[in-house]
Amino acid sequence: MRGIILAGGAGSRLRPITLAVSKQLLPVGDKPMIFYPLSVLMLAGVRDILVITTPDDLPQFRRLLGDGSQLGLSIDYAPQSEPRGVADALLVGAEHIGDGGVALVLGDNIFHGHGFYGLLQENVRNVDGCVLFGYPVNDPERYGVGVTDSRGKLVALEEKPAVPTSNRAITGLYFYGNDVVEVARECRPSARGELEITDVNRHYMKEGRARLVDLGRGFAWLDTGTPASLLQAGQYVRVLEERQGVRVACVEEIALRMGFIDAETCYRLGKELEGSAYGRYVMDIAQEMPLEEYSGLRR
Ligand code: DAU
Repeated sequence: MRGIILAGGAGSRLRPITLAVSKQLLPVGDKPMIFYPLSVLMLAGVRDILVITTPDDLPQFRRLLGDGSQLGLSIDYAPQSEPRGVADALLVGAEHIGDGGVALVLGDNIFHGHGFYGLLQENVRNVDGCVLFGYPVNDPERYGVGVTDSRGKLVALEEKPAVPTSNRAITGLYFYGNDVVEVARECRPSARGELEITDVNRHYMKEGRARLVDLGRGFAWLDTGTPASLLQAGQYVRVLEERQGVRVACVEEIALRMGFIDAETCYRLGKELEGSAYGRYVMDIAQEMPLEEYSGLRR
C-alpha cells in the first residue's frame, strides 16, 4: 500500500498567515502540521509516500522531509498546479499509486486517539473498494457526511449537505483498492468546480464496496482551517503532551517504534534538533530503547 499526503490548496481562511507559508507547514503545538498526517501513514505501516503540494510550496516540504530515508521512508513530491479538488490527488499521484492500493490523507487533518494504531492496521490490508473513517461532529454540513447500515456498510453519502442526514463526518483519511485511479478518471468537476473525493467514494458505495469505520467520541479529529481552530489544535496537543510527557506525532519516535529506524539513527536525528525540547525528547526516546516492540503504540 502506497501513501499520498495532499498538502496543497490556498489556505484562504488562514490569510494572511498563508500568503507566504503553506498551511500544512504551520505549527501545531511544537511541530509542523504535516507531521500529523505523516504519522498516520507511518502507523498504518505505509512507507512509500508522495507529498502533493503547490509548485511554490514544494521546495519547503522537500527541505523539511527530504527523501524520507532518515525516517526509513521513501518520500517523493509532486506539484498540483491548481487546487482541482481532493480527488485530483489520485490523478496527480496515479503513477505513484501504480497498480496497488493507496492510503490518501489530507495534510491538514489531525487524528489522535487510543487504539488508532490497531484500527489502522486492521483496515489497511486487503482493501476492496474503499475504507473511510467517520467521526461525530456538531457541524456536519461542513463535511462529507455518511450513513451506514448495521454492518458498517456505507448506504448514503453527501458532500456538505444543507440538511445533513447524520452527524458522521467523513474524515480526510481514505484507504483505496487498486482500481481507484480508474474511478477518479471518471469524475467530473462538481458545482464548486472541484473533483470531489465524495464522488469517488459514492462510486464504491453504489457497488456495495465502501466501508465506514467509526472513530467514535473517544477520538480527537481536529480542524485546523481557521486561526481559532488552528490555535485550539495546538493547545490540545500541548495539554496532552505536558500532562503525559509523551509526544503526539513525533515522527522520529514512530519510525523507531515501527522498526523503520534503529535507536542509533533516532538518537542522531534528535541530536540534530538538540536545541529544542522536541529534539531532546527524541534523544531520550532513543536511549530508552529497546522497548517492547510497538508497546508505546498499543497502550
Ligand atoms: O477534512 C475532511 C473533508 O475534506 C471531507 O469531509 C470532505 O468530504 C472533503 O471534500 C474535504 O472537504 P473540503 O473539500 O472542504 O476540503 P478542503 O477544500 O479544505 O481541502 C482539504 C485539504 O486538501 C486542504 O488542506 C487543502 C488541500 N487541497 C484541497 C484541494 C481542493 C489540496 O491540496 N488540493 C486541492 O485541490
